[in-house]
Amino acid sequence: MRRVYKKADLPVAEIRRFLEPGPIVLVSSRWKNHTNIMTMGWHTVMEFSPSLIGCMITAANHSYEMIRKSGECVINIPTVHLVEEIVGIGNTTGAHLDKFRKFGLTEEEGNIVKAPLIKECYANYECRVADTQLLKGYNFFILEVVSARAAVYPKYPKTVHYRGEGIFMVSGKHINLRKKFKNQNL
Ligand SMILES: Cc1cc2nc3c(=O)[nH]c(=O)nc-3n(C[C@H](O)[C@H](O)[C@H](O)COP(=O)(O)O)c2cc1C
Repeated sequence: MRRVYKKADLPVAEIRRFLEPGPIVLVSSRWKNHTNIMTMGWHTVMEFSPSLIGCMITAANHSYEMIRKSGECVINIPTVHLVEEIVGIGNTTGAHLDKFRKFGLTEEEGNIVKAPLIKECYANYECRVADTQLLKGYNFFILEVVSARAAVYPKYPKTVHYRGEGIFMVSGKHINLRKKFKNQNL
């Protein structure tokens, strides 16, 4: 049965709560001998081929300059078992802290980029910065995924999605409507 919602005005600064798609990702980077990780929710797929991802990284974050200067990073997709690390990494700066050590995560070598992959994550996307045009106005990086690996099981990982105000949602129930799709590649 369709539901009729009773609604109230929503401050426009809060609309992100229902739009932030997640999954929450961990972005790892390397600049010279220093590695770092940040938590990120504001990302979007932009294109299939080349495989482009856009994301907003505040310039105040230590990761911003590391990614801008090195021109690369890794988008790591954690599952719910790493939720404490997700929060810890997103609430500390790597300016004077080794977050791999602090949060007990393992650096893994990538195929193409020098930034380390996080071994404990479900999937790892090696990225190169493809376009910096929107950095100045919006802190918006356009990344190209140049190599990727993902766990072979389970097929649908229990990813973590941010609801705002410290509340996370864990992906769960799936509904298969594949037969109704005209484009089977979507
Ligand atoms: C759930 C969550 C989502 C976040 N999403 C983003 C984001 O999309 N962009 C961003 O710039 N910072 C985001 N942050 C904040 C950074 O992860 C945080 O500022 C972190 O301390 C940056 O680390 P760094 O200074 O070592 O780069 C998020 C934090 C949390 C907890």
